[in-house]
Amino acid sequence: MIIFEDMLKEKPYLIFKALYDRASDNNQTNIEAVSISSFNKKLNEVDSRYVNLKFISNVEFIFFSNYESPKATAFNSHNQIAALLYWSSINVQIRMKAKIKKTSNEFNQKYFFDRSEEKNALAISSSQSKPIDSYNQVKENYNRSLESDDLKKCPEYWGGYSFTPYYFEFWEGHESRINKREVFEKTDGIWKHSFLQP
Ligand SMILES: Cc1cc2nc3c(=O)[nH]c(=O)nc-3n(C[C@H](O)[C@H](O)[C@H](O)COP(=O)(O)O)c2cc1C
Repeated sequence: MIIFEDMLKEKPYLIFKALYDRASDNNQTNIEAVSISSFNKKLNEVDSRYVNLKFISNVEFIFFSNYESPKATAFNSHNQIAALLYWSSINVQIRMKAKIKKTSNEFNQKYFFDRSEEKNALAISSSQSKPIDSYNQVKENYNRSLESDDLKKCPEYWGGYSFTPYYFEFWEGHESRINKREVFEKTDGIWKHSFLQP
């Protein structure tokens, strides 16, 4: 589930919300899963991974992650991302382009405080994407954190990322194969609207 807070009432955001509601009504699983592609300038590599979109707050799309992970290193080196959603229940793809930044420490602390201790123990105990000897070791680290860490305090190496799309493409598949592609691109504060050939 994505939480919509005071969402901007501009066309691409309204379309996003209407499609979200339709997918939700059609029991879309993993409705909040969004693929985020990043570019690591130093490695000269593009990479993608799914994260869970937690909030759309006014213009900002927000998810949470480890600030020392490979994705974080990529965002630090190059703040341009591409985000991609596919809701199979309604055959809709949404492509977005944006710059990404961290959310504030105050925001992270509040979010972390309200989460379950189990989730927080995992965030605290995992050096995300670093190699480890065994899966057992992962479980031991988690259990140690659950017993001995302050599970209400968000560590500095964990928190939110926010991106504000300047480009949306809504792709709607049709049985006739005449798929609909509608684009909104913001330039100089104005949304330019167009259709693309399928
Ligand atoms: C459906 C789904 C949702 C996920 N949500 C998150 C998330 O919200 N935050 C996160 O850090 N990783 C999430 N992951 C794990 C990431 O895909 C990825 O394995 C991890 O963040 C490490 O990525 P990195 O090595 O590129 O930094 C999710 C994976 C899946 C399949």
